[in-house]
Amino acid sequence: MNPFKLSHQALMCANVADKIILVEQLHNLKNQQALDYQSPYPIESVERPGIPDKPILARFDSMPTRKKSDIGFIQTIHAICHIEFNAINLALDAAYRFRAMPNQFYQDWIQVAFEESQHFQLLNNYLITLNYQYGDFDAHNGLWTMTFETDYDVLARMALVPRVLEARGLDATPKIQKRFETSKFKPMVELLDIIFKDEINHVKIGNYWFHSLCKQRALEPMSTFNQLVIKHIGIELRGPFNLEARKLADFSDEELDYLQAQAR
Ligand SMILES: [Fe+2]
Repeated sequence: MNPFKLSHQALMCANVADKIILVEQLHNLKNQQALDYQSPYPIESVERPGIPDKPILARFDSMPTRKKSDIGFIQTIHAICHIEFNAINLALDAAYRFRAMPNQFYQDWIQVAFEESQHFQLLNNYLITLNYQYGDFDAHNGLWTMTFETDYDVLARMALVPRVLEARGLDATPKIQKRFETSKFKPMVELLDIIFKDEINHVKIGNYWFHSLCKQRALEPMSTFNQLVIKHIGIELRGPFNLEARKLADFSDEELDYLQAQAR
């Protein structure tokens, strides 16, 4: 079977339930070693991946500030659920778009897409127990932008999506867990634990491929990364950083020292 065709199909699928099924099928085929990573398939730019009509995507600056009320917590759960939904698309795009990589690259990103779909379902199922569901609140539209902007090169993608965007999730999670700890929504602490453990591994995968590509192209990783951050974000990364989690995700000591200096 053609993994690129199947990844593209899942990526463009706008129906939540169908997308989850397509990702599950892709994951099963990967595990059965039934995917041929040499298959040809056209590479198209994807300005808008498959997303449902709801949530309505709002501009970042028009999002209401979340209050410490029940509804504020539920909106936070919804916002994380939205991030996980988008993360399915981020991983599918990595599996679909970049060719001539080792088989392991595709297997890694198909595995990530599957785990993100599990995270999405954990959170959406929890929302359902609270009489809400994915789509009930507006959501940010900024998550796809960096993916789209780095579609020109797998090195830029690995640098900026897992190592910046997903690593930010590692920085934020313990603080979010702390807020849920003393709330009515304590089950979130455990759900976020499960997600956090997987996310460390996703960032680790991004780090592995970033460093492997730097090595292949004889590029110095630190300066290559910094140049890409300046090119795409415009400013250096802002802390605070969860250095412990980042270390587990295989950020090097040199990189951690650098981040620590930034955070001061
Ligand atoms: Fe996730």
